[in-house]
Amino acid sequence: MAWVRDNIAAMKGYVPGEQPSDAGIIKLNTNENPYPPSPRVMEAIRAVTPDRLRRYPDPDANVFRQAAAKVHGISPEMIMATNGGDELLALLFRACVGEGDRVAFLNPAYSLYPVLSAMQAARPVALPYEINGGDWRLPEDIFKLNAKLLLIVNPNAPSGTLIDRDMLARVIGGFPGAVLIDEAYVDFAPTSALELVGQFANLILLRSLSKGYSLAGMRFGYGIARESFLRELYKVRDSYPCDAVAIAAARAAIEDQAYARGTWEKVLQERRCVTEQLRNMGFVVPRSHANFVLAQTPAGSDAERLYQRLKDRNILVRYFPQPRLADKLRITIGTPVQNGALLEAIGELAKEMLFRPHKDSA
Ligand SMILES: Cc1ncc(COP(=O)(O)O)c(C=O)c1O
Repeated sequence: MAWVRDNIAAMKGYVPGEQPSDAGIIKLNTNENPYPPSPRVMEAIRAVTPDRLRRYPDPDANVFRQAAAKVHGISPEMIMATNGGDELLALLFRACVGEGDRVAFLNPAYSLYPVLSAMQAARPVALPYEINGGDWRLPEDIFKLNAKLLLIVNPNAPSGTLIDRDMLARVIGGFPGAVLIDEAYVDFAPTSALELVGQFANLILLRSLSKGYSLAGMRFGYGIARESFLRELYKVRDSYPCDAVAIAAARAAIEDQAYARGTWEKVLQERRCVTEQLRNMGFVVPRSHANFVLAQTPAGSDAERLYQRLKDRNILVRYFPQPRLADKLRITIGTPVQNGALLEAIGELAKEMLFRPHKDSA
């Protein structure tokens, strides 16, 4: 199509995880929180008046920014509300990355990054994680990088592994461009890079209400950075990125910290059980700090076949047919009942598919 830019015609679009309409499916494929949002969220949604819908929403979602600022102990000016964390990524690429610019990210990491890079006709620099069994480390090359933008998911998706704050500070301090730490899963982790924002003008954090606050269906996220950085992103955003219902829901969700934390605790407890039981069955599972685990299937097994056989039993997990991931499944932590069904099904399939334990499985 002659009217489409060459780089768009040449690229492939992002393929999101399956969203089946069948309610009977055990859905462990897109890292949603298995628990519903706070009851206060539903109250806030019901309280939205027709007049609030008739008018345009607050473009800055100030009620949300104030509530989030209180939770984080920072000023509201350091928070930018967006239509999901994904919108923040789009804004960052639009503001920072031009044609031919270098954009760096780890591999494997969030598979949307190369797509956003292709949209800008940028030059992607994929840095391979150093993977040794369950141990995932940043490569030394990261300290020699020259690019406009560096994206690090922490805890990482799809591995769930965590890079410590001192290491992040070293990377950010030595990098010449903007650094995004994608903290979409940070609510399930013991540390965040929040305290580094005051230290580095080139740093921005991504947060999402999709996972920790059970609002994937609402589409709400936010960025945390110095006001000077956010000011540039405001120039390239849509006029009204977050709708009135989403703003009301997101505010109620972040204000009800006690409820959200309760769901995180339950997920962490289940994460421990699922990790242990998968390891007992011969999977190699890095220690996860997110609401999912990445499980390398046992020697002699076929991850894609296992994914398919689970799907035949109405259990959906995520399979990425790409280098370094083709022997693994990413499994979202569900409720105890869902996880029990998953583990039971894997146990049965293991007999049928004749799994043998990995030598390095701990
Ligand atoms: C690593 C990572 N970053 C960002 C996002 C975007 O989250 P959302 O747009 O749902 O807020 C996701 C969603 O799955 C993700 O996995």
